[in-house]
Amino acid sequence: MGPEYPSSGSAISGREPADRFVMGLLRACADAVLIGAGTLRATPGHRWTPDHVCPQAAPAFAELRRNLRHAARPELVVVTASGDLPTEHPALQSGALVATTADGARRLEGRLPPTCTALPAGEGPALRMADVLAALHAHGHTAVLTEGGPHLIGNLLGEGLLDELFLTTSPVLAGRADTPRPGLITGLELLPRQPAWADLISARRRTSYLFLRYRLRSSGARVGLRSEPAL
Ligand SMILES: NC(=O)c1ccc[n+]([C@@H]2O[C@H](COP(=O)([O-])OP(=O)(O)OC[C@H]3O[C@@H](n4cnc5c(N)ncnc54)[C@H](OP(=O)(O)O)[C@@H]3O)[C@@H](O)[C@H]2O)c1
Repeated sequence: MGPEYPSSGSAISGREPADRFVMGLLRACADAVLIGAGTLRATPGHRWTPDHVCPQAAPAFAELRRNLRHAARPELVVVTASGDLPTEHPALQSGALVATTADGARRLEGRLPPTCTALPAGEGPALRMADVLAALHAHGHTAVLTEGGPHLIGNLLGEGLLDELFLTTSPVLAGRADTPRPGLITGLELLPRQPAWADLISARRRTSYLFLRYRLRSSGARVGLRSEPAL
């Protein structure tokens, strides 16, 4: 995700090595990395693997995954209602699960690379994320990390499915004018009726960056969220 995208993680973090290590470590602990199609479309060259963001730690990540008895790399899972995916994207070319609606599956028929598997997860215009997680569990994926983006996070939170939040606070002020710069959550109004309170369970600092880990109080599932929202 290049810095030309005003809400991309790398634009916000300034490609801080400690942030990239944390991102790689979270991926290294996951069975699956879940993203929305908007994030895939906004990030043409990205791969959601531990070593893509932090190649210098690749041997340590690989050893960690062996110790955790995980597959060599986490499986990428892309959620799309429309089926409008850039099928030439290297992350799809190297293999992913695509959770989609019946309409999305029709649109993707014959277009997905053979390395990808479509997971038809619902008949309606949008997927219930609980159904997507159940399908992932059926694939043996229990430790699920989501890297957003904001609409997917809104849907997961709306169904009470996020249990942890790994938040990087980057020492940069972004601001908002006419820039399409979403925050952490889009499409879901929480305050004042449904505040999602969280408890801080770990805080680390490296130079002027903060690495914060929260546990959400009202959650019924195991999905960890990693994000760097724009301030
Ligand atoms: N700073 C960060 O850490 C960070 C992280 C991630 C993303 N971002 C930024 O976020 C922006 C993209 O925002 P976004 O909100 O569009 O991203 P998104 O949440 O990744 O994607 C939204 C899309 O995901 C699919 N989707 C989500 N929930 C669904 C559901 N319940 N059922 C079916 N499909 C579902 C839909 O795809 P279809 O449209 O195909 O139906 C929807 O339009 C980009 O600019 C990106 O750079 C920033």
